[in-house]
Amino acid sequence: MTGFSIDWLDLREAADRRARNDKLLQQAILWLESAREQTAELSVVDLGAGTGSTLRAFSTAVEPDQKSLSWRLLDQDAGLLAEATSRHGASHRLQTYELDLTDVPALPLEGADLITASALLDLVSADFIDTLAAALQSRCQQKPVGLYAALNYDGITRWTPTHPLDQVVLDAFNRDQRSNKGFGVALGPDAGLYMERMFSSLGFKVFSANSPWMLDGADNQLVDALISGIGDAVAQGSPLAVPDLLGWIRFRKAHLRTGTCEVGHTDLLALPDTV
Ligand SMILES: C[S@@+](CC[C@H](N)C(=O)[O-])C[C@H]1O[C@@H](n2cnc3c(N)ncnc32)[C@H](O)[C@@H]1O
Repeated sequence: MTGFSIDWLDLREAADRRARNDKLLQQAILWLESAREQTAELSVVDLGAGTGSTLRAFSTAVEPDQKSLSWRLLDQDAGLLAEATSRHGASHRLQTYELDLTDVPALPLEGADLITASALLDLVSADFIDTLAAALQSRCQQKPVGLYAALNYDGITRWTPTHPLDQVVLDAFNRDQRSNKGFGVALGPDAGLYMERMFSSLGFKVFSANSPWMLDGADNQLVDALISGIGDAVAQGSPLAVPDLLGWIRFRKAHLRTGTCEVGHTDLLALPDTV
């Protein structure tokens, strides 16, 4: 699994925050608030937490009673977890867990009211979602628990101005998104739809909404890094000739400040059918 740097996560966070579907985020918060009627201590488990971007999105969306809300941040990267603790350890009740998410039965999900993830579940396999969904369904027998999964890449990327190779590059990039990212063959662009079907089939009420990055010249640093990332991903095993790919990258970088880029995502909220 390739590492995710603090710099990259910081670079994307503003675009992520703008992209998150506010209605679904509010609905997830309402779900937590409704759980407060049953329990004094609310508990959220954030999968692949990084430096805590989901915690920040929840904290800026409402002014929740932080004292009765605890966060378990799960990630395999100790450096990212240390950064999350340094940013939020004093203001929030949080515990960090350095672990590999692929071992679903070993995840510390006990007593959770909500499981969250952002920019993660397009990296995982169908098997991982099946196992996670079954674990949540089983937990619901003791205590209802929902899933809020934001920013799942959906395979759509649109640029202005257009370039004749946009579609070929996108096809190659989407193929790479389906390769193994540490969880087996990744769902990539199919993650949103797959989760929707899986959680619905287990009786959860599923809500989903689009949450695209809408990027322009003001996001030029992020778009620059995105183009480089696409170039690296596409360079491996691509049908594109190297000069063509380099030409596409040059064209895209020449329009960093004047062009636009839309990267499609979906957000999903799956709630047990108790409401
Ligand atoms: C794209 S980043 C998203 C981070 C954060 N949720 C955010 O939105 O900024 C994916 C995160 O998942 C973590 N991750 C990826 N595979 C993992 C695994 N097998 N076990 C634990 N964490 C993993 C990475 O370390 C990284 O922090």
